[in-house]
Amino acid sequence: MADVAKRLSTNLDGNFFVDATCINCDTCRQLAPKSFVENGEYSSVYRQPETGSERYQAYQALLACPVGSIGALVPDKAVMRAASESFPLLIEREGARLGAPGAGGCESDVFYNGFNSEKSFGANSYFIRHPDGNWLVDAPRYMKKLVDAFERMGGIADIFLTHEDDIGDAPRYAKHFGAKRVIHRADADAQPDAEWIIDGLDVVEASPDFRIIPVPGHTDGSMALLYRNRYLFTGDHMAWDREINGLRLATVYVWKESALRRSAEKLLELPFEWVLPGHGDRMHLPADRMREELRLLLARRKAGTLLSAT
Ligand code: SF4
Ligand SMILES: [Fe+2]
Repeated sequence: MADVAKRLSTNLDGNFFVDATCINCDTCRQLAPKSFVENGEYSSVYRQPETGSERYQAYQALLACPVGSIGALVPDKAVMRAASESFPLLIEREGARLGAPGAGGCESDVFYNGFNSEKSFGANSYFIRHPDGNWLVDAPRYMKKLVDAFERMGGIADIFLTHEDDIGDAPRYAKHFGAKRVIHRADADAQPDAEWIIDGLDVVEASPDFRIIPVPGHTDGSMALLYRNRYLFTGDHMAWDREINGLRLATVYVWKESALRRSAEKLLELPFEWVLPGHGDRMHLPADRMREELRLLLARRKAGTLLSAT
């Protein structure tokens, strides 16, 4: 729980505040951008939530914060409960999009799990409900609430680990659900007992709907997961950057720049509409527009315009 004695002076006065234990992971700014902002090495409240939806988002941020740095002086238990119930948070209902929910085995949902883990520096994790077996992409905190939600949706068959930094509580979820953990050999020291190790740089067709794409650069063993040629789970390889209103690659923590760029170029060959990162903003654009954004990103990168950091 946040400690009011450690409340940062950068917070606007009012019910919500951030304390000095904040690790500046950005989660609150993604979930409640109307209330939280980056301020030096921390986040802080720059505007107290006013409307019902702003309060709801602020409680989602409070619950997702990996280190419990967000506090409310007078908690609204009903809104807090509703915000807690919102996780896993539906990003898109694939069956409805196709106009045939529940028909022909095409129904599938993509969720952001919330409850980010300090073990992965507050990285986002995702859940894909699929008729042939569900996937977890990186892992949130291990919480009974999430375990129950995953159980209700049919459990977890595979846990895709984008790279060594964002393992979170994957081993506990794997054990509970008997799930296979997938990681690249180059990052496998972080999960040496993973059940499925990916080698080399070739794209792996895991099933007709899932493609595993090695994207070394941020780390030697970084991987992306392309689901139904629509959703690209990118780990810390690539994200949307709200400041430049464009895509960005990892900047500060880079294992090898040349590999990072080659990995981004490889993505030009693949169709996708969603970028779903570990750190940074999600984005949904038509596939041709997303490809154009990727070209612009590569041009900026080659010109040495390194904007924003991962
Ligand atoms: S979610 Fe928590 S740790 Fe992350 S930036 Fe916000 S207050 Fe800081
Ligand atoms: Fe990382």
